[in-house]
Amino acid sequence: MKTRTINLSRLAVTIIIILAFALGAYPALAVTSPSRVLLSWTGDPATTITITYVDADGTTEGFVRYSTDSALADATEVRATAVPNKSAMDNDGARFTATLTNLTPATTYWYSVGNGDTWSAAQSFTTAETSPDNFSFAFFGDIQVTQSAATDFAAWGKLAEAAYAKNPGIAFALQAGDIVESGITTEHWAAFLDNASPVFSKIPFLPTNGNHESNFLSGKPELYLDTFTLPTNGPRGFEEEFYSVDYGSAHILVVNSWVFSGEQRLTAAQLDALDAWVAFDLASSDAKFKIVLTHVPLYPVHSDNTGVSAREHWIDTFQKYGVTLMLVGHQHVYSRLSPLTNGAPDYEDGITQIMGNSGLKFYDSADETYAERTIYNVSNYQVLTVDGDELIVQTFDIDGNELDYVALTPRASESVTRAEYVDMLWRSVGSPVVEGVERFTDVPQNSPYAAAIAWARSAGIVVGVGGNRFNPNSKILPKHMNLILDRYNAVMA
Ligand SMILES: [Fe+2]
Ligand SMILES: [Fe+2]
Repeated sequence: MKTRTINLSRLAVTIIIILAFALGAYPALAVTSPSRVLLSWTGDPATTITITYVDADGTTEGFVRYSTDSALADATEVRATAVPNKSAMDNDGARFTATLTNLTPATTYWYSVGNGDTWSAAQSFTTAETSPDNFSFAFFGDIQVTQSAATDFAAWGKLAEAAYAKNPGIAFALQAGDIVESGITTEHWAAFLDNASPVFSKIPFLPTNGNHESNFLSGKPELYLDTFTLPTNGPRGFEEEFYSVDYGSAHILVVNSWVFSGEQRLTAAQLDALDAWVAFDLASSDAKFKIVLTHVPLYPVHSDNTGVSAREHWIDTFQKYGVTLMLVGHQHVYSRLSPLTNGAPDYEDGITQIMGNSGLKFYDSADETYAERTIYNVSNYQVLTVDGDELIVQTFDIDGNELDYVALTPRASESVTRAEYVDMLWRSVGSPVVEGVERFTDVPQNSPYAAAIAWARSAGIVVGVGGNRFNPNSKILPKHMNLILDRYNAVMA
């Protein structure tokens, strides 16, 4: 297993760029009209959609027109905003994004993007029902490039189109990272977008970032961040690397496992804050199914130190707070492990790990010790169907042959006390120490939660239960979690 080493020299970056070019230049690089449209969500799937697209270089204005009418009669027009160029690279066009809000649930809308004069062809999407507990979505593992950007992304685009044609009910897709071979090569992103857009201008695409999205001096996946518009509900400074989405009875948590590679040179305190945010996010959800999407597997099927670090940091939290399924990539086989608790098979209460591989790069071996199914040398995709109390995962090849099937059930989440909940939030923002705050009478100075509760009180995030008491050891109710989260967001806004 190759793990990318931290590389800070400009010489090395230059060599990587040259190697990436050697993997094949992509002819249709720059766009001349509004195109490369991708959908995502940054709000409620029932009432919002987020649209991101690329227009010709130098375009300064962007708009989205949308209507329930396929001819866009009586279309509503909203302004799109320019996407900040975090990478400071020539992104082969001007990127725009807009989020449509106040949409009607379970409704098909048609839309077109453009600069006011030139518009893209109209495309449609359908908003989610309100709180569905019966729905499907897709998962794609690593894509990358083995021959050329043109060839490999065209092959992947065909897989995505086959998946959508066979499963037209899929509401969105997740992707495991390693989207491109070289995260610093705009050709790869252009080729990806050209081949992703036919399907993912109709349904949202929600990825995580892998090691191949990296190699920027900052350690951040900068072109990944430029390319996608994703929820910004993650920890400060790590927005879009960490985020979560609720779709009906599923809570999907996306976490950047590549932070454990050392490439971002994070301190132990920063990693602790990320861990606390992960726990806070999962503890905040009472969804029936909690699904984690991350690139590097917590249970690697080839030795991988980054995966081991991710497991050491996160597996207890996933076990505690009811995660049913981890969707991963990175090791270029299809692999489904038996449900595991602390690395040992546990059919009563284990977490299942499924590794997908949707590209053309294949490993011909894997550790099958705990595998229930391993498939080599086949590009594949998964269809996940939530049907009441069951989560069914089917694996298909491009011809629609079913290669694997498993039915999973929800896992219970541990309850959390009011003090523990505030403590997770406090640690997720770096454990700020606030002096001179009046104490609740039932939170003594020597309580392990005293500093967290003092901070939350001073910021107006908690107000107590009356009589200058906080009830630190009572189980926190969902409505109070929401209240704390709302107040926190208001404070941080
Ligand atoms: Fe990979
Ligand atoms: Fe990888």
